[in-house]
Amino acid sequence: MTKDTHQRSLVGVIGGSGLYHLDNLTFVKKLELDTPWGRPSSAITIFALPSGTNVAFIARHGPHHMIPPSSVPSRANIAALKYLGVRAIIAFSAVGSLREEIAPGHVALPTQLIDRTKGIRPASFFEGTSVVAHAQFGDPVSVKFVKWLEERVQKALDDEGRGTVLHKDKTLVCMEGPQFSTRAESNMYRAWGGDLINMSALPEAKLAREAELSYAIIATATDYDSWRMESDAVTAHDVLQVLKQNAETSKHVAAYVLEELHHALEENLLNEEVGGMRNSIMPRSD
Ligand code: ADE
Repeated sequence: MTKDTHQRSLVGVIGGSGLYHLDNLTFVKKLELDTPWGRPSSAITIFALPSGTNVAFIARHGPHHMIPPSSVPSRANIAALKYLGVRAIIAFSAVGSLREEIAPGHVALPTQLIDRTKGIRPASFFEGTSVVAHAQFGDPVSVKFVKWLEERVQKALDDEGRGTVLHKDKTLVCMEGPQFSTRAESNMYRAWGGDLINMSALPEAKLAREAELSYAIIATATDYDSWRMESDAVTAHDVLQVLKQNAETSKHVAAYVLEELHHALEENLLNEEVGGMRNSIMPRSD
């Protein structure tokens, strides 16, 4: 990788379905990076906030949504952000709702994940190496960071003035896809305690943890998944309609919180994952 010495982006933003850029901020430049895990989903775009503070942005599914969830190069995405000096990632994601009270258009900050992609996607930087590591993952998102975001995201939504509802402490099921769930599966996830469902939180969250980066998900609901008998089974078309409005909300939230987040990171207030892998590497027994 070629180091870009001019950039110092402490915050990384990963845009999910519908969010392919932050065009409400000022475009600075695109960085084409290569990593030991291949190329990231997109060029890393550096955007500047009004103060001149830079943030690094990746479109998870590529700039034209060509990368399906199972093929997202999550290791390259996380490695590229880490390489640029990012300390915290806000991961935006379109999700289905498994709960009546979480309507399409609502926003949620999940604090727990259920992994239905395990064993299918490459999920560790240590795979294929001689190092055995077991990262702590009881809290799959960075708790302090999510708590910090709660109040700010609420203020951002109030500021946008569309009355968007924010849900906290939710459990997100990450499924493999690409097909949506059957009704039986959707009901099973509800019985397991799932509130939201997507196809892309994992292995991203696991890799951010291994890279010792603070990581939080801002989820925007696009549909009711297939459990809800009052709704037709979910289609990609339904999802697209809501995606557009959700993308506008996501950009507004990003612009609202990023400056303060950058300063909090400068002051080492939210670097809770740093050093976390120290006790996760198994010592070699010779
Ligand atoms: N992303 C958006 N809606 C979804 C759903 N219903 N299931 C899985 N991923 C989704």
